[in-house]
Amino acid sequence: MEPINTEMKKILITGGAGFIGSHVVRLFVNKYPECEIYNFDKLTYAGNLENLKDVESKPNYHFIKGDIVDADFVLALFKEHQFEAVIHLAAESHVDRSISHPLEFVMTNVIGTVNLLNAARAIWNCSKDRPVPTGKRFYHVSTDEVYGSLGADGIFTEQTSYDPHSPYSASKAASDHFVRAYHDTYNLPCVISNCSNNYGPNHFPEKLIPLCIYNIKNRKPLPIYGKGENVRDWLYVEDHARAIDIIFHKAANGSTYNVGGHNEWTNIEVIRLLCRIMDRKLGRLEGENEKLITFVKDRAGHDLRYAIDSTKLQQDLGWKPSLQFEEGLEKTVDWYLANEEWLHHVTSGQYQQYYTNQYVNR
Ligand code: NAD
Ligand code: TYD
Repeated sequence: MEPINTEMKKILITGGAGFIGSHVVRLFVNKYPECEIYNFDKLTYAGNLENLKDVESKPNYHFIKGDIVDADFVLALFKEHQFEAVIHLAAESHVDRSISHPLEFVMTNVIGTVNLLNAARAIWNCSKDRPVPTGKRFYHVSTDEVYGSLGADGIFTEQTSYDPHSPYSASKAASDHFVRAYHDTYNLPCVISNCSNNYGPNHFPEKLIPLCIYNIKNRKPLPIYGKGENVRDWLYVEDHARAIDIIFHKAANGSTYNVGGHNEWTNIEVIRLLCRIMDRKLGRLEGENEKLITFVKDRAGHDLRYAIDSTKLQQDLGWKPSLQFEEGLEKTVDWYLANEEWLHHVTSGQYQQYYTNQYVNR
């Protein structure tokens, strides 16, 4: 199927220095040399320009340091550059941080999203009195966590009602609602996708998989919340980036797509698999790493199970995941073991000193 939106050449990607954003930026910069890709990122603790070393000198890549919460800055930026499309990934993304600092999640995930919607609406001149503008797109990247928690059965479809439980998922749910409201109220050309848990290179080691890779490497305890029985549906990050590319170019305005790997694992199964892979890779005795597993106090409001039905994306737009979990996890471990410097920089905070001085706030 040919892309329906090939005319969008000036694309703003928010949160492009983060985990998923950096894979999306790399894909777009390399695959679409005719497009100008603007990476707009505040460089919070989660933003790391080292993730983009391989594309930073490409002529179609541009970096803008800024905060999506700053409405004046965002509007001025849109007026100056006249972006034709936005792929919005900037967010506070860690559930545990949302439990300790919920307001930061409201600011970035809700207010920041509304600021971007307002700026897009202003420069594209969107209103219910006018037809939806052609050649424009606001793509909001969201999470399956907005759907809440499943029991032993069931699966999230695009029709599942929202039922968020953590401040993180509540803030993402609110942002999704605003995006749909701007589509319905102002004819803003919007698309949303809701994806399951990602894993892969450049994942910040506060999340389960990279944290445990780091801890296994350093023979530190592996903290498993509760009994480790919570289930997540894991997707390799490059498969998500490919899905974003396809949805960005082919989805109809106003549509929603679920993205997921049909790949459910309990947390304890994931960590046992990781331990076995790393016993082998690090030349340790079989079972040695499993001894590091430590059960700790459960997360408050911990969602039991996520499972996503991505049939619509597979059938309508022809996407499917490319990697089996074992294969993806092995690739991920190889990446972390080969990129000791990256891991050292993020765990020591050095990455922020290296890069932030190169860019001034506009
Ligand atoms: P991340 O935390 O790794 O990166 C977030 C990026 O946003 C960072 O580069 C950070 O500097 C930037 N940022 C944060 N606040 C900002 C602000 N106020 N202004 C500008 N930039 C700001 O997140 P991620 O895991 O890559 O997730 C990206 C998006 O995908 C998020 O919207 C998240 O909700 C969604 N998502 C993530 C997952 C997952 O498993 N990680 C799954 C589904 C959806
Ligand atoms: P996480 O990677 O934080 O993603 P999310 O909460 O968005 O799903 O956590 C994945 C699962 O792992 C989740 O059920 C919580 C659990 N977990 C632990 O057991 N220990 C940890 O140290 C972390 C960070 C997460």
